[in-house]
Amino acid sequence: MNATVRALLDWFPSARRDLPWREVCSPWRTLVSELMLQQTRVAVVTPRFESFLERFPDPATMARKPEAEVLAQWSGLGYYRRARNLHAAAKMIVARHGGEVPDERTALCALPGIGEYTAGAILSIAFGKPEPVVDGNVERVIARRFCIVENVKRGAARKRVRELARAAVEAGPPGEVNQALMELGALVCTPKSPKCGDCPLAADCRARADGTQETLPALPARKAPEAVTLAVALAGRDGRVLLVRHPEGGLLCGTWGPPFATVLPGEDGRGVVERSARNRGLRIAVGELIGTVRHQITHRKITANCFAAEIEGDLPSGEARLLPPGEFDTVGLSSLAAKALRHVLPT
Ligand code: ADE
Ligand code: SF4
Repeated sequence: MNATVRALLDWFPSARRDLPWREVCSPWRTLVSELMLQQTRVAVVTPRFESFLERFPDPATMARKPEAEVLAQWSGLGYYRRARNLHAAAKMIVARHGGEVPDERTALCALPGIGEYTAGAILSIAFGKPEPVVDGNVERVIARRFCIVENVKRGAARKRVRELARAAVEAGPPGEVNQALMELGALVCTPKSPKCGDCPLAADCRARADGTQETLPALPARKAPEAVTLAVALAGRDGRVLLVRHPEGGLLCGTWGPPFATVLPGEDGRGVVERSARNRGLRIAVGELIGTVRHQITHRKITANCFAAEIEGDLPSGEARLLPPGEFDTVGLSSLAAKALRHVLPT
């Protein structure tokens, strides 16, 4: 980590953009800039920053002004909730902290609009405290430099990114280290086509060595949908169709539709759905295949083979009904059932 931080700090002075909140530094300027930069690009914030600070040079001045004036000055920066939060934060800074931005994480996080990330930025940049700041830029630089291939938004990989970010700020002046990491991510180690040839970390970068700099950080893996085959029994009597409520715990549970069962490879769909219905007290005789419906639900790609069927004997009371098509919408049909009934049932 020391070599990485040294290379980063050697590079930063020459690459550093002259941004207005860097030229004159104070905790209040840092707080305002970080709030603005939460959701607005540097290029939009830059021309607006100085005039905003002239109007509201310190928390006490802002706290005395009506909220509407802060909102008006915020215009063009978007996400106005941040301006309301800033005004409320200024009032709280006056009421609780004598008008000085607090230099302690708990007190900062208690201010409206300030979360873990913004608190870390203020603590490191304005107060020189060794607090990590992990935004998208920093996450990307770290994931690439240390070749973290898992999803950096969760679990062990997320934790590791934070540990590495903490180790970095403990190895050099925290404000400089954090801003250098952000700057590297914004200017060199960009999401697409990172400029590894210009990068101070290139010699030690594991993603560059592996050629994976374009693919890291990895997006969360999407599981391929599981292919499922169902046998559906379309049974009718006197223009009405047999619908059942699918039992709890199974596929489509709680919704209504024709009886169905999951068919494993090699099984005969007719027999499977017949037996499954019988287990629920429903005697049906399943005949020929009349159509196939495909349907995708979360994580499952369903092929539903629909068979003509006949009801034998009485229906069990409760969770099975014979309904005419005009009354299908009186029960909660699943969309798969609606599709099967629409496409397969002769109307
Ligand atoms: N984005 C968020 N904080 C920043 C900062 N201090 N400098 C540049 N870009 C930023
Ligand atoms: Fe990013 Fe390339 Fe630098 Fe590695 S060498 S940190 S991938 S810009």
